[in-house]
Formats: sequence, structure tokens, C-alpha cells
Amino acid sequence: MRKLENILVTGGAGFIGSNFIRYVFNNTDFKGKLINFDKLTYAGNAESLADIDKAFGGSRYFFVHGDICIKDDVDAALKKYDIDTIIHFAAESHVDRSIHGPAEFMNTNIMGTFNLLESARSAWSGRSDVLFHHVSTDEVYGSLGDTGYFFETTPYNPRSPYSASKASSDHIVMAYNHTYGLPVTMTNCSNNYGPYQFPEKLIPVMIMNIKDGKKLPVYGDGKNIRDWLYVDDHNSAVWAVVNKGRNGETYNIGGENEWENIKLVNVLCEKMAARLGKEKDHFKSLIDYVKDRPGHDRRYAINCDKLKKELGWKQAFDFDRGLDLTIDWFLSNDQWISRVRSGEYRKWIEKNYGGR
Ligand code: NAD
Ligand code: TYD
Repeated sequence: MRKLENILVTGGAGFIGSNFIRYVFNNTDFKGKLINFDKLTYAGNAESLADIDKAFGGSRYFFVHGDICIKDDVDAALKKYDIDTIIHFAAESHVDRSIHGPAEFMNTNIMGTFNLLESARSAWSGRSDVLFHHVSTDEVYGSLGDTGYFFETTPYNPRSPYSASKASSDHIVMAYNHTYGLPVTMTNCSNNYGPYQFPEKLIPVMIMNIKDGKKLPVYGDGKNIRDWLYVDDHNSAVWAVVNKGRNGETYNIGGENEWENIKLVNVLCEKMAARLGKEKDHFKSLIDYVKDRPGHDRRYAINCDKLKKELGWKQAFDFDRGLDLTIDWFLSNDQWISRVRSGEYRKWIEKNYGGR
């Protein structure tokens, strides 16, 4: 039996991690302690959990400002909070950044994961009531043509520095399970969207640029396809796997919701026009086809039958509702947006994209 009393969440100040922590406190029967261990890079914002800190801070929720690449930081947190479960979200997560600066991706995603595993292995020697859950991506499987799906058995074929670094970490996690008997589970998920997503990924970039009357940069011919999943649906799946997933197993998570980028951008233009009192096609003139991303994967599509059949999970948010919730959130959280945009991110985007 898994103990699941004291959980260390890495990367809990980022997009999916912060939503995960909120999900666990608000939507599950978890009664233990949860420690958010985060370096607070450009993508991490401890304020994203101000509500949870107010309600549970100091009793069941704790924030540790730490780096997964620094073993002393990790060892100290595992010991201090008597951690029995690690849920590992922390990563460098944006493909475009990985093209401009791969080194940080290799360091954080590969060496950071290795470091965490080493700490877990020594802290948990011989225990079977513990768990290391690794959060990964469908991008490790490569790129699909017009047909077919990614299964858990699909051979790895990562094609960007980001996906190669995640693939590498996935292999190391599984090697610790096979070699040292460390209890692990893993999930590989499709593209997420929702509140608190850093405004560098497709959906928040488009929402913010429409709001600000800026051009909408669509890479290449706009026909690349992604399988979109609302962040709470990702997190309910992670929670199901952490509770009931089999040791050593991988579970794919997906939206079963494929969209060409350009079609999605058009929908966002229409939804924003309705919100902002403009006629339906008003914002479509902002669409700007720009130079393609190097090595741009064409299509991702997940088969998540294993998760559905074994653990009874299913998506709860259809795309229309999820997009409405996301747009409404971005339109009513100016303070969060200006804070996350004001730091290092602004400097990076100005250097690489001339402030776009
Ligand atoms: P994010 O970039 O929004 O957040 C990453 C978080 O990790 C930030 O809070 C950051 O401060 C923290 N972090 C980075 N380096 C760290 C370090 N060395 N030590 C401690 N903390 C560190 O990322 P996200 O979109 O929330 O993604 C979370 C995880 O989910 C990642 O592992 C990612 O690969 C995976 N994933 C993401 C998606 C997606 O669509 N966003 C899809 C599938 C899987
Ligand atoms: P992104 O949100 O960066 O996620 P990922 O690359 O991990 O799938 O991009 C989603 C898709 O949108 C991808 O095909 C690239 C494309 N894209 C644009 O066309 N314009 C943009 O400004 C961004 C950020 C992405």
C-alpha cells in the first residue's frame, strides 16, 4: 500500500503544478501534507497559489524555494518533511526556448531528474510504500502523419531538444525502477491549456495578443495538429495514477481533441470578439503566418485507452467549456499576467522575437 501522506511536488509554482496542487486540496480527499518545491524560474510564480497558502499554509501546505539540480536542497526537503511521495513536474517546458538555449533543458530535465532519483533512492532504500511519479509528455514519441496515435508502446523518437531531454529523463526513471526497485509511475500527456499557463504557449499567446491588438504569429502553414486537454483533466489523471497506477507502468493522457493550429486560432478570435463586443471576424486580420519553428512536429494524437480502462479516468471538460474558462481567467487576471511578463521573460522575448 502506498503511504501518500507527505507529498513533495516539484515545479508546483508552474502552470500544471500549481493547478495540480489546487486540484488536490480542493477536489480530492487527500488529508496529508503537500510541499511545493520550486526554483521559481521565469515560469514559476509562488503567487499562483496565494489562495492555497492562505487556506492551508503552515499546516498542510508548505513552499520550499529549492533547485532539483542541487542535491542538498532535495535531501533536506525529503528529510524535513518525511516525504513518501514525489510528484515530479519541474522542468524547462517550452520547445521554442529549447531551440534557442538547449543547455538549461539538459541540465534541469535530465540532470535534475537524475538528482531527484538519487535522493529518493537513498532516502527510501528498501521501502515499497513510497512512489516517484514522473510527469512527462507525448512529444517523446515524435511526430505523426495524418493517421495513427501514440500508444504507451510506441517507440521513442524525440525530435526537439525539449522532447529529447524529457525522453532521456523518462528512460532514467524507468531504469531506477528496473535496476534499484524504486517504485515509480509515469504519465505522458498531450498539450495542456488553462488558467496560469505562462503566456509563451500557443493559447495564452493568442488570447493576450488579441486582447492587446497585436499580431497573432502562426508558425509555418498553421496546419500542425495538437491534441488539447484542459489542465484539470491532466491533473485528475495524474492523481488517479499516483493513487492506483501500477508500479513501473506508463499511462498516456490525452484530450482526444485534435485541432489544426490555424483552426484553433480562428476559434479564439471568434470567442474573443464575442467577449470584447466586436463582430465575429474582427480579430482574424491580426493572423500573421511567420517563419516555421525548426523541426516543427506535425501532429500529436494520444490513445489513452489504458488509463480509461484500468483506472476509470475520463476527461471532464469539453473544449468549448475549457476555452471559455481559460479566456475568462486571462481576461480577469491582469495583475498575474503583468507580474509574470515583467521579468526575465520580457527580456528573452525582446531578444529573440523583438517584443512580439
Ligand atoms: P512550466 O514551465 O509552467 O513550469 C515549470 C515549473 O518548474 C516552474 O514553476 C519552474 O520554476 C519549475 N522549475 C524549473 N526548473 C526547476 C528546478 N531546477 N528546480 C525546481 N523547480 C524548477 O511547465 P508546465 O507547463 O507546468 O509543465 C509541467 C510538467 O508537465 C513538465 O515536466 C512538462 O514537461 C510536463 N508536460 C507539460 C505539458 C504542457 O502542455 N504544458 C504537456 C505534457 C507534459
Ligand atoms: P506550444 O504551445 O509551444 O506547444 P508544443 O510546441 O509543445 O506543442 O505550440 C503549440 C503549437 O502551436 C505548435 O504547433 C507550435 C504552434 N505555435 C504557433 O503557431 N505560434 C505560436 O506563437 C506558438 C507559441 C506556437
